[in-house]
Amino acid sequence: MSVAIITGASSGIGAAVAVEFHRRGWKVGLIARRDDLLKEHVEAMGEGAAYATADVADEKGLTDAILKLESELGPCDLMFANAGIGDGRSARHFTSANTLKIMNVNCAGVIHAFAAVLPGMLKRGTGTLSATSSVAGFRGLPNFGPYSASKSYVTSLLESMRIDLRPHGVGVTTVHPGFVVSELTSRNAFDMPFLVQTDKAARIIVKGLLKGKSEVNFPWQMICLMKFVRWVPNWLYDRVIAIASPTTPKKEAE
Ligand SMILES: NC(=O)c1ccc[n+]([C@@H]2O[C@H](COP(=O)([O-])OP(=O)(O)OC[C@H]3O[C@@H](n4cnc5c(N)ncnc54)[C@H](OP(=O)(O)O)[C@@H]3O)[C@@H](O)[C@H]2O)c1
Repeated sequence: MSVAIITGASSGIGAAVAVEFHRRGWKVGLIARRDDLLKEHVEAMGEGAAYATADVADEKGLTDAILKLESELGPCDLMFANAGIGDGRSARHFTSANTLKIMNVNCAGVIHAFAAVLPGMLKRGTGTLSATSSVAGFRGLPNFGPYSASKSYVTSLLESMRIDLRPHGVGVTTVHPGFVVSELTSRNAFDMPFLVQTDKAARIIVKGLLKGKSEVNFPWQMICLMKFVRWVPNWLYDRVIAIASPTTPKKEAE
């Protein structure tokens, strides 16, 4: 039985992806900080599911959690580094602390997760590394600078790693969701176009991961829009995005 380890598995996309893998006969290891939620998910799934608590920004804590799950379930066949946070605020309120907080979870969290399982995958000559980026990483979005930047980082890192690791039997998949129902998006005070239900997102992600896709991008409407926007010149992008983008995070609206 194959083993998937999922970070950010206490809620939203990560929890739903864990359930979907388990439903398909995989053993699943769930990681996040909220013990009570992880315990609830694992108990609901039953045999073949285990959890460990860790802050993904803490390299030792996360590595220990992954080792604990591998000793319970077996070597990790697929790492889904999904834990992430987002905090919408205008660059007028830019601070090092807030920006680094996002980078430490969204970027360092992926780095630590991959570093913990990659040597084993290379030794075995098989495995999959995957992480949740976002369409927000396709271009810098107003009010979401640190978040957009963290997701651009994830997209570029995984693209490079994919090419390096392919000859060694390790696949790399980048997940780019548009808006998905979750705790993260429940804080958005704006209308979210093409919003996808969490369990549907999980089915799309797991299907793509099992097919060994280089990217899992959804929903298609948001992907087409954001890929097109990539090619729009700055003079036009700056004007249009300032009007059309989700610009009023709840924090500032309140
Ligand atoms: N929902 C969307 O529309 C959307 C779109 C594009 C990309 N994404 C990305 O999808 C991923 C999952 O987010 P979601 O939408 O499912 O939101 P969510 O429900 O808020 O889930 C975030 C998960 O990350 C975990 N987490 C946060 N900080 C952590 C830390 N320091 N250490 C360990 N775990 C941590 C949370 O668990 P604990 O609080 O228990 O630690 C939770 O399980 C994120 O990377 C997000 O950026 C989401």
